[in-house]
Amino acid sequence: MKITIVGTGYVGLVAGTCLADLGNDVFCMDNDKDKIEALKRCEIPIYEPGLKDILEISVKEKRLHFITDIKEGVKNSEVIYIAVGTPPGENHEADLTNVMAVAREIGQHISGDLVVVNKSTVPVGTARKVKKIIQETMKGSYEVDVVSNPEFLREGSAVKDFMSPDRIIIGTDSPRAQKIMEKIYRSSVRAGNPMMVTDIESAELIKYASNAFLATKISFINEIARLCEKVGADVKKVAVGMGLDKRIGPRFLQAGIGYGGSCFPKDVKALIQSGIQYDSPFSILPAVEKINEEQRQLAIDKLKSVYPDLKGKKIAIWGLAFKPRTDDIREAPSLIVIEHLLESGAEVVAFDPVAQKNTEKIFPGISFGHDPYSILSGCDALIVVTEWNEFRDLDFERVKLLMKSPVIIDCRNIYEKEDMRKQGFTYIDFGRKELKTVDNPKIN
Ligand SMILES: NC(=O)c1ccc[n+]([C@@H]2O[C@H](COP(=O)([O-])OP(=O)(O)OC[C@H]3O[C@@H](n4cnc5c(N)ncnc54)[C@H](O)[C@@H]3O)[C@@H](O)[C@H]2O)c1
Repeated sequence: MKITIVGTGYVGLVAGTCLADLGNDVFCMDNDKDKIEALKRCEIPIYEPGLKDILEISVKEKRLHFITDIKEGVKNSEVIYIAVGTPPGENHEADLTNVMAVAREIGQHISGDLVVVNKSTVPVGTARKVKKIIQETMKGSYEVDVVSNPEFLREGSAVKDFMSPDRIIIGTDSPRAQKIMEKIYRSSVRAGNPMMVTDIESAELIKYASNAFLATKISFINEIARLCEKVGADVKKVAVGMGLDKRIGPRFLQAGIGYGGSCFPKDVKALIQSGIQYDSPFSILPAVEKINEEQRQLAIDKLKSVYPDLKGKKIAIWGLAFKPRTDDIREAPSLIVIEHLLESGAEVVAFDPVAQKNTEKIFPGISFGHDPYSILSGCDALIVVTEWNEFRDLDFERVKLLMKSPVIIDCRNIYEKEDMRKQGFTYIDFGRKELKTVDNPKIN
């Protein structure tokens, strides 16, 4: 099929490249000219494992094209995906400015029947608004169907997630559009990936409800972690015990500094706003948000339990991306931690395998390293913020020798307390059982 993807970011680029890989003729459009020029040279603006390989093949075989003119895409396509950003607006609702601008442009250039697919995460009612705008803007009389097809990919495993999703959700009230969507995802469904076709409103809500539920799991386990610290329980064991119950499952039960990223924070906020807008306010979600914000402060408080005054202290950060295997730092917990440290007069040095360039744009004053060890010299403490695999099996004897004081705040509970204490570290984690036998060594 001939498909245009409007918005060539984390979602649009992955979706466009994968749809091309499945044999479609795809135009990836973006109004960021530099990004499109780079993509034409097969330079990928984001870190996403596996993406470059399939992109290069599809570009070479002329199934994947990069354009800046939406007109070219609309005129040449039977299906247009909208995958532009939907950041939080002034009142924390989803800001639909980009989506509505694209709808108007589609309306201006439409010259045949079209299926428009909302891939961006948008509140209930958006598909119908997009359709209305297109119909009001278009000059001729064409059949336009707007489908909700929310995206569930996770950065870091986006290609795999797009190709083998847990589910493909299609929200539509049009048999014609349903047929076209079934055709696009036929090979994926044949490969065993389930497709659910439903009404538009339910599809739109499935995305928000899923993200808000996962965020709720994280905040829930973080509150349990706080209680663990008080009663002498170990949150990792509690989570494993809970997760063995098939109704609960083990995932998203890792206590620590809380969730971040471009989706959970904004989607929780947007769902809270939808609840207020439709006079069905949430009680649970404001609590989820509050707990998450408190977890960031808790990380700082744990550091302050060692150094009440951070002025002049040199603090190392391992991990800047909001999660491993991505360079995305949007709403990353590391940003809050760095901001607080700088405000307190501390010197910050940081290492992340791929997210340093993005972080430097926000904090040009901090220094970065080329590997985890390279930033530790003379440090008073190390805060592990992102659980990259690169940080799991390191030489902690070397770490200790490099640091001025062997203090580690482990915001992701990736190390074993007993091991770290035996090696001489003041090791502080989230919600894990205190040891009776090995004490924290003294700090210089
Ligand atoms: N990033 C994720 O992991 C993820 C996962 C699932 C869903 N989503 C949702 O997908 C949507 C896109 O997210 P993203 O992370 O890819 O955003 P992004 O910021 O990485 O990309 C958005 C792109 O849209 C472009 N754009 C904005 N307005 C445009 C316009 N009028 N015309 C053409 N291009 C325009 C921007 O230049 C940018 O390249 C959001 O609604 C997000 O919530 C994101």
